Amino acid sequence: SRPEPCTVVIFGATGDLTHRKLVPAIYNLAIDGELPPGVKIVGFARREKSDEEFRQGLEELNRKVSRSGHDDAIWAKFQESISYHQSEFTDADGYKRLAERLDAIDRDRGGKGNRLFYVASAPEFFDDILTQLKGAGLNKAKDGCWARVIVEKPFGTDLATAQHLNQVVNRTFHEKDTYRIDHYLGKETAQNIMVLRFANAIFEPLWNSRYISHVQVTCAENLGMEGGRGGYYDKSGALRDMVQNHLLQLLSLITMEPPTDLSADGVRDEKVKVIRSLRQWDTPEKVAKNVVRAQYTAGHVDGQPRPGYREEDRVDPESMTESYVAVRLLIDTWRWSGVPFYIRMGKQLPKKATEISIHFKDAPCVLFNALPGGVPGSNVLVLRIQPDEGISLRMVSKIPGTSLRLEPVKMDFHYSTSFGKGSPEAYERLLLDAMAGDATLFARRDEVEEAWKFIDNIEHAWHQSTTPPPMAEYVAGSWGPKEADELLQQDGNVWRRL
Ligand code: BG6
Repeated sequence: SRPEPCTVVIFGATGDLTHRKLVPAIYNLAIDGELPPGVKIVGFARREKSDEEFRQGLEELNRKVSRSGHDDAIWAKFQESISYHQSEFTDADGYKRLAERLDAIDRDRGGKGNRLFYVASAPEFFDDILTQLKGAGLNKAKDGCWARVIVEKPFGTDLATAQHLNQVVNRTFHEKDTYRIDHYLGKETAQNIMVLRFANAIFEPLWNSRYISHVQVTCAENLGMEGGRGGYYDKSGALRDMVQNHLLQLLSLITMEPPTDLSADGVRDEKVKVIRSLRQWDTPEKVAKNVVRAQYTAGHVDGQPRPGYREEDRVDPESMTESYVAVRLLIDTWRWSGVPFYIRMGKQLPKKATEISIHFKDAPCVLFNALPGGVPGSNVLVLRIQPDEGISLRMVSKIPGTSLRLEPVKMDFHYSTSFGKGSPEAYERLLLDAMAGDATLFARRDEVEEAWKFIDNIEHAWHQSTTPPPMAEYVAGSWGPKEADELLQQDGNVWRRL
């Protein structure tokens, strides 16, 4: 199905996400001719602002971040579709006024009344916004139209709050009209995981415990708590902020069984099975053995001095929140029995890079045993999620020359050179999917809750047990704590160097 004209109402419209991601995404869709005609944007937030002030603020940011640059003439036309609606999130009257305003927009557009509500406010208002939408009858679509909701992360802070939020959402909107966004699923390279696995014949036969020794998922960031982020982050931590959602989602794409079709439920049925099959680290002993948490101490990143985590703005000086986490995961399914999966995520690491590496078992190397050093390493398939998106395969080759010596070489595919054009931003694809009614790349209720079950056990051991596993340290600008290296050494593995 195709994306349809609609009004996008963004709650939390004065926030960073709206300015840096959402509006630039819609602008770029318009430039690329992908946006259905007649899309209107209404920003909903508490601050007093005129339409004009709102538009100016958006324009300023669009100039800085827009993927395909900023064109004054195009913007001038585009901004006519943007307006601002001031209201408290808890004020029923504000929603009544919103309903009237949306009706007026519909009339201008010739009666078409599709609405896409995007809940991107601070998470403590998610409940209120949904409840008020229902109070004003905005959750009900008009005849022949639709009303859908996109809910931003964080989707709860643990299983109980996620279940509660799910109840509130499902009391307000049909599950089929509910889009829990995880922007990692909108990344081009994440979408390509299924294509790589299921459109090629050579990988899937090897994609199991017989041939794969282990898998690593690394998400490195070279930033800390800039822009006042510490306030949110210190209550969340790396595990909740990135692992519960983005990284478990990537893992499920890597490990799921082939779905029977590409429908939203066909794909999500398979993803949730994997998350449900994660072995639970449900005692402090298991957590201590399989999970490493750490905080950065002062150091240098990109040549710049950085404070330690506990010295950051809006972070508790005695904080026990992790800025780094490494986890060993086991998936108890027929395909993956015995294969360790390692996930690591950290702030203030040397660079920004996300990649997944599939490490294959060694070839039986009887033939080359006698060579000095034997066979140098095994096959590794690397999926670079970002930046420098692409895929590479590490193989062993003979060094040209008169003697037999071996060296690893790389077969490398780069999106930028193979396709000669940039990928759309994740939010572009996802907004378009929501306008088209396709929820495949959004998390379903059960996926979110199963992921929280796994995360909750670990958080519980850290924060509620009488024998909490220790907090390790790493210097800002290093690749993480030595304890994370030891986690892999126990299995005879090492982290891939990025
Ligand atoms: C967000 C997290 O969901 O994802 C941030 O809250 C993180 O802490 C960000 O930095 C990373 O997204 P990306 O697309 O820059 O890798």
